[in-house]
Amino acid sequence: MSKNKKVLVSGIQPSGTLHIGNYFGAMKRFVELQEEYESYISIVNYHALTSVLEQGTLAENTKNAIIDHLAIGLKPDTLFLQSDIPEVTELAWIFNNLVTVPYLSRAVAYKEKVERGLEATVGLFDYPVLMAAYILIMDADIVPVGQDQKQHVEIARDIAEKFNNRYGELFTLPNAHILKDVAVVPGIDGEKMSKSYGNTIPLFAKDDEIEKLVMKIVTDSKGEKEKKDPATDTVFALHVLFSAEELEDIRERYKNGQIGYKESKEILIKNIKTFIAPLRTEREKIARENKNILETIQQGRERAQKRAREKMKKVREVIGITF
Ligand code: TYM
Repeated sequence: MSKNKKVLVSGIQPSGTLHIGNYFGAMKRFVELQEEYESYISIVNYHALTSVLEQGTLAENTKNAIIDHLAIGLKPDTLFLQSDIPEVTELAWIFNNLVTVPYLSRAVAYKEKVERGLEATVGLFDYPVLMAAYILIMDADIVPVGQDQKQHVEIARDIAEKFNNRYGELFTLPNAHILKDVAVVPGIDGEKMSKSYGNTIPLFAKDDEIEKLVMKIVTDSKGEKEKKDPATDTVFALHVLFSAEELEDIRERYKNGQIGYKESKEILIKNIKTFIAPLRTEREKIARENKNILETIQQGRERAQKRAREKMKKVREVIGITF
């Protein structure tokens, strides 16, 4: 890959079935930008360990997440597992000594997860530091993510600055890359779509699943002929992602009281089905043909390992671990 290209780094947790929020918020851009940027996309299994504790589940989710990314068109040599780069966890330990507990206590994602009932483990608390280690070890210029990860990328930036001030300029300051329209994709209950909220539409959902989930989307109780507000309706928010051609027409019909939620949902179902069908076919093909999925991404692993090892060697030297 060209030396002049800027570096794109991102990751997805194998903590459940990937959904359309993950796709529009992040994964789609991995594919769109993979030629323009030198790209590193990691299935972050150590991050997922903060929420996935049942034996066997993590391995299964991880294999699925790799296949999912290949199915949307990501090149195999951009993909790797976080655990294949042990330098990331090593660097996280070093960063732990730069970051204070009061500073990390301000992390919104941590607070939200604990409020929702996740156990407040040290791992969950330290999640942003592990994320910073991965972003910074790869010298990321841009980090495509959804809005919920903005603060985590800012934390990575702060850690880079602190390290550079103390030991000399070693880390690139990363920037979050967030697109306004897809920053927060809503789930079927109107909250942020999230693997842990039980409100997702899976990215590779079957037709009957799509029908069932869309019909469950929560709306207000306005009747067919009443005027509706596209800006506050979850069904419309999903039309923005799937119904480009009809969007302006649907918007007008909402405003003029010319469409009921049932019809709006039926149009959405049709468009989501059309969107997902070819992805699902591709996914089935990849799963069939790539019996050993780790072999398929071997090059991705080697590229990432090389980059991380070189960086870590310098880190150990500047802080005095090796001499
Ligand atoms: P994860 O797996 O929770 O989410 C993966 C990506 O999907 C985005 N996302 C959404 N975007 C818009 N609307 C939604 N409803 C929605 N739900 C999820 C997330 O913002 C994320 O971009 N902490 C990261 C994983 C990670 C990472 C990294 C990312 C670990 N290390 C380094 C970038 C760089 C996360 O949230 O994963």
